[in-house]
Amino acid sequence: MRRRTWIALGLALVPAAAIPLAAVAMSGGTPSFTREVAPIIADKCAGCHQPGGIAPFPLVTSEQISSRSALIGAAVQARVMPPWPPGRRSPAYVGQAARTLTPQQRATLVAWATKGGRIDGPARKPARPERPELRGGERLLDLRVRAAYKPSAPKGGTDDYRCFLLDPKQSGDGAVTSVRIEPGQSRVVHHVILFRVAPAQVAAAKVLDRGSSGTGWSCFGGTGLPAGDSSAGIADSLNNANWIAAWAPGWGGSRLPEGTGVSLPAGSQIVMQVHYNLLNGNGRDRSRALLTVAPASAGLEPLQTMLLPGPVELACAKGEAGALCDRNEALFDLARKYGPTAALTPAGLLILCRGSAATPRASAESSCDRRISTPTTIHVAAGHMHLLGSSIRLELNPGTARSRVLLDIPRWDFHWQNAYALARPVKARPGDVVRVTCRHDVGKRKRAGSGVPRKARYVLWGEGTTDEMCLGILQVTRG
Ligand code: HEC
Repeated sequence: MRRRTWIALGLALVPAAAIPLAAVAMSGGTPSFTREVAPIIADKCAGCHQPGGIAPFPLVTSEQISSRSALIGAAVQARVMPPWPPGRRSPAYVGQAARTLTPQQRATLVAWATKGGRIDGPARKPARPERPELRGGERLLDLRVRAAYKPSAPKGGTDDYRCFLLDPKQSGDGAVTSVRIEPGQSRVVHHVILFRVAPAQVAAAKVLDRGSSGTGWSCFGGTGLPAGDSSAGIADSLNNANWIAAWAPGWGGSRLPEGTGVSLPAGSQIVMQVHYNLLNGNGRDRSRALLTVAPASAGLEPLQTMLLPGPVELACAKGEAGALCDRNEALFDLARKYGPTAALTPAGLLILCRGSAATPRASAESSCDRRISTPTTIHVAAGHMHLLGSSIRLELNPGTARSRVLLDIPRWDFHWQNAYALARPVKARPGDVVRVTCRHDVGKRKRAGSGVPRKARYVLWGEGTTDEMCLGILQVTRG
């Protein structure tokens, strides 16, 4: 909804205001469609805006582009397209240049749109994505979901999270070095996360798989699997979790940082969690993951995943009422839906993060600090919340002279989740602090068409669409 408002605002601005005039001045007149506009659209837009792609309409032929010129100018000027959630305080990320517009490119598109969006020649064909490149000793794993799956959302929802178990038939130890996803239904596959399933967890994953009708199982927040190694303490499992990579549409494929890989020990399997956005349809999907795996002999630095959860305590808004607005009732409800440990997590998070539930509010910021205990290099940052999230930030040593922002997403959009590889990895020393800060707003419940369940309740950390998360994710090497 908010996006539409920006677009409307942008449209209102296009014909009159000063910004487009400045843009025209910068580009010195009307930009040529064929020479200037078409190459930008082919490189920066057509990856998603192509027939069958995730975007609602293709921008491939000159007619398709020209007929939407006003909308393109507005979306580009309002900076809602191409989608790039990190805000200005964020550092530079690998692949950012390929995913965002330079100020000059933005000015060119706006100036062309303002001058009527005329065509003076053919559009440029978007380059076809290449196959993943194999480097010394790597093998290609081509993993397909066992059988097609027809996405369906819980009552009233528009999002389906499905987990599929994939067997890489990994006989020796190896390390994943790149991930690329080929969605069966690119219109509805909104993001994909790959989790490693340790050999000891494989049996539990098979139980989940068999216990659910259709291919895979429903898994809104994570994999639904119990923690891999029950002997590991909470801190260990938070400092070295089972995440391999995240992927979102428009990314040709993501190579993990040079010289690193996520270890995939012999006998491991992989859970592919697919987020289907049913606003775009619900055709049967059989997605595919292409992974490159280096042998243990490549001697890559193991890339570990640190999880930084923060508490979520959100009261009902003024004017909302219902039994579940009571925190205890909401806790009982969590226990009923996900088992007794789910109801303990909120208290655990308050202890871990020195938080308090004494004066919960309907729109609130929460944060959590983690002290680094071994020399660490931070390579990748990601944030995760659900539908009521409004902003998330990850920082190193906040409030000190050595503070560094790792990721800042000022306008959280549940539909654009991704992991961001830092262009310059950041070193952290023992004693340094990483902080996750989340803002949630219960007011998002009221926005029609947002896919947020509207029933009033006290919102706590949990797996479901009606629950929330505040989760920072860092991929690091030790040393
Ligand atoms: C990563 C995929 C992706 C890329 C890259 C992308 N788009 Fe989009 N675009 C979408 C999706 C999906 C939508 C539908 C709205 C939404 O879900 O955000 C959309 C919507 C739009 C809209 C309609 C906005 C509205 O609210 O009606 C316009 C115009 C647009 N895109 C133009 C562009 C242009 C121009 C570029 C390149 C500069 C671009 N897009 C790049 C995915 C993408």
